Amino acid sequence: MNPDRAPDHMSADKYPAILRYVHWLVLLAVVLAVAAIQVQDLFPRGSTGRLFMRSSHYAAGVAVLVLMTLRVFLRAWLPATAPVPGAAWMQRSAQLTHLVLYILMLAMPVLGIATVLYAGKPIAFYGLDLYSPLQENQPLSRLLKEIHETGATFVYIAVGLHAVAALWHQFVVRDHIFRRVL
Ligand code: HEM
Ligand code: HEM
Repeated sequence: MNPDRAPDHMSADKYPAILRYVHWLVLLAVVLAVAAIQVQDLFPRGSTGRLFMRSSHYAAGVAVLVLMTLRVFLRAWLPATAPVPGAAWMQRSAQLTHLVLYILMLAMPVLGIATVLYAGKPIAFYGLDLYSPLQENQPLSRLLKEIHETGATFVYIAVGLHAVAALWHQFVVRDHIFRRVL
C-alpha cells in the first residue's frame, strides 16, 4: 500500500505535499496578521513599534493573498483529492466551509490593500513611504476598512468551525483526518 495513503476503510487521501505546506503556511500568516494588528494597540500612536506591527500586518496579509492564489492554481492543476467519506450533508458542509475560507482569505487582503491604497496617505511600510497609484477616496477607504474589520469576525468564525470540525473528526470519529494535511 502506498504509505502516503490512509488504510482503505478510511479511504482518506492525503492532499499533495505542496498543498499541505501551503495549508499550514496560510494558518501561520493569518495568525501573524491578526496578532500584529492586535499588538499594535499596545504601542503609542506614531511610535516605531506601532509602525512595525502595522507593517507586519500588511506583510503577513499580503503573504496570505499570495499563498491562497497559489493554492487556487494548484488545486485546479493537481489531481483532485477524494473527499472524506461520510454522509452527504457532512461532505457538503465541509465543502461549503472550505469555499468560505477561500473567499475570505482572498477577499480580506484585497480589502485591506484597497483600504490603504485609497487612504490618500503614503503607505508606511517598515520605514519606507510607498506611494499609492490610486486617487485618494477617503469615504471609499473608510467603507472598505469597515468591511475588512467586519470580515475579520467571519474569519474567526469560519476558521473556528473548520478547526472544531477537524478536531471532532480526529478525536471523536477517529478517522485520522489530520493525515490528509500533515
Ligand atoms: C487560516 C486558517 C485555515 C485555513 C484558511 C484553512 C483552509 C483549509 C482548506 C481550504 C482546506 C481544504 C483543502 C482544499 O480542498 O483545498 C482545509 C483542509 C483541512 N484543514 Fe484547514 N484551514 C485553516 C486552519 C486549520 C486548522 C487550525 C486546522 C486544525 C485544527 C485545520 C485542519 C484541516 C484539516 C484536517 C483539513 C483536511 C480536511 C478535509 O480534507 O476535508 N485547518 N483547510
Ligand atoms: C487574511 C488577511 C488579513 C486579515 C485576517 C486581517 C485582519 C485584520 C484585523 C483583525 C484588523 C483589526 C480589526 C479591528 O480592529 O476591528 C485589521 C485591520 C486592518 N487591516 Fe487587515 N487583515 C488582513 C490583511 C490585510 C492587508 C493585506 C492589509 C493591507 C495591506 C490590511 C490592512 C488593514 C488596515 C489598514 C486595518 C486598519 C488598522 C487600524 O486602523 O487600526 N489587512 N485587519
